Amino acid sequence: MANKHQQLPATWGIRSCFRSLVALLFTVLVITAVYMAQNNGEDKTAYNMDSGECNFFNGKWVFDNKTYPLYKEKQCTFMSDQLACEKFGRNDLNYQNWRWQPHQCDIPRFNATALLERLRNKRLVFVGDSLNRGQWVSMVCLVDKSIPHGLKFMHHNGSLITVKFTEYNVSIEFYWAPLLVESNSDDPVNHRLPDRIVRVQSIEKHAKYWTDADVLVFNSYLWWRRSKMMVLWGSFESPDGIYKESDEEVKMPRVYEMALRTWADWLEVHVNRNKTQLFFVTMSPTHQSGEEWGGDKDQSCYNETELLYKDGYSGAAMDPKIMGVVDKTLDDLKTRGVNVQIINITQLSGYRKEGHPSIYKKQWEPLTEEELTNPSSYADCIHWCLPGVPDVWNEILYAYIL
Ligand SMILES: *[C@@H]1O[C@H](CO)[C@@H](O)[C@H](O)[C@H]1NC(C)=O
Ligand SMILES: *[C@@H]1O[C@H](CO)[C@@H](O)[C@H](O)[C@H]1NC(C)=O
Ligand SMILES: *[C@@H]1O[C@H](CO)[C@@H](O)[C@H](O)[C@H]1NC(C)=O
Ligand SMILES: *[C@@H]1O[C@H](CO)[C@@H](O)[C@H](O)[C@H]1NC(C)=O
Ligand SMILES: *[C@@H]1O[C@H](CO)[C@@H](O)[C@H](O)[C@H]1NC(C)=O
Ligand SMILES: *[C@@H]1O[C@H](CO)[C@@H](O)[C@H](O)[C@H]1NC(C)=O
Ligand SMILES: *[C@@H]1O[C@H](CO)[C@@H](O)[C@H](O)[C@H]1NC(C)=O
Repeated sequence: MANKHQQLPATWGIRSCFRSLVALLFTVLVITAVYMAQNNGEDKTAYNMDSGECNFFNGKWVFDNKTYPLYKEKQCTFMSDQLACEKFGRNDLNYQNWRWQPHQCDIPRFNATALLERLRNKRLVFVGDSLNRGQWVSMVCLVDKSIPHGLKFMHHNGSLITVKFTEYNVSIEFYWAPLLVESNSDDPVNHRLPDRIVRVQSIEKHAKYWTDADVLVFNSYLWWRRSKMMVLWGSFESPDGIYKESDEEVKMPRVYEMALRTWADWLEVHVNRNKTQLFFVTMSPTHQSGEEWGGDKDQSCYNETELLYKDGYSGAAMDPKIMGVVDKTLDDLKTRGVNVQIINITQLSGYRKEGHPSIYKKQWEPLTEEELTNPSSYADCIHWCLPGVPDVWNEILYAYIL
């Protein structure tokens, strides 16, 4: 029943794929600082006037160091060294002080007690990749501060990490399934593999862990960022080895669509739609090259301290084709009577090029000389510092759950 935070394994996350990518991208040693041409910071994104409901996703960031951060990095029992930017030397802490303000309404103030009461005797499960895991860390940190020691503990079991708040009998869990369906990257620790192989038709191995959850929050995008994937029709355990002649490479976004269909079919058949609330978090933007926001291509998010004020900017990861697949899959599910609420974080996070861990995180391996002279080359511009951007994703999620 130890409530001590367990050390996260060295291969956590997508470091290897990330590193090879940045190694390709950033070979120039000298980096010039990029100064953003800033306008007045107003976001003129169109309002959604058609629906009576407030659109949480159109808005702007407002500096608010009175109410933010919502918790302190050091005080969160469950903080991850991958996201603890202050602990690992970041000095400019303004990234902790931004509130997302929708144009037409306010996001309700996060109230951990209200959430725990709403989730009493229930399971809230995040399923997906390391970005979803970051959102899960944010969520347990948001709740953590109102719960005394001894009334919460953390438990690892394979791909599932559970934080239990015993007083309320609430479980807030994370399940590692970066592609949602089965793949050769499913090991929560050892998933650095050069070739990605995905069983697009198989999800049960994962789904059996969370099908009966009360609230499910999915994401999956980062691991699909390649032009095509090897699809396995047989099983990983098949005696004739992994590849069969019938196996094939399938292009994006077709292969993504196939996987989401498998996921959707599973939900339709297995999830109790009277009980379970379903969410899908859209792609989280990356800021790996200054070129993405009109700066120097050799400059990553390293050294960025300012927000990006460019109307409608969604970040380089914004891929309309992928968004289209998500929309289509969820619309189709709706016609089959299963409602999945989209948490569209893409654009609001796109403005936050300064919100990533950059070099301020635990370095799992010693840095090479080349890396030391060129910090941009190993900066993490994919995940997000906490407290920070994912707290806002959770405030929006909170509004929907309640
Ligand atoms: C990063 O910012 C610091 C302080 O502004 C500056 O001294 C340093 O040269 C910058 N480094 C790079 C690589 O831009
Ligand atoms: C909040 O920000 C303002 C403006 O930057 C600054 O003057 C003030 O000292 C800050 N307050 C706190 C509590 O950090
Ligand atoms: C938070 O929620 C609890 C339970 O619903 C309520 O009693 C409390 O007043 C709320 N706190 C704030 C600050 O609104
Ligand atoms: C505690 O919560 C779990 C779900 O996480 C539920 O299955 C169980 O029935 C709850 N226990 C009690 C005593 O209500
Ligand atoms: C881990 O999960 C499996 C499958 O649900 C279960 O059989 C096993 O008892 C769990 N182990 C621990 C230590 O909780
Ligand atoms: C869900 O609710 C509907 C209408 O109340 C009911 O007919 C149906 O049996 C319920 N389904 C389940 C799985 O509980
Ligand atoms: C999310 O928002 C972006 C920008 O506003 C939009 O282009 C995209 O289509 C939306 N995604 C989904 C899945 O609705």
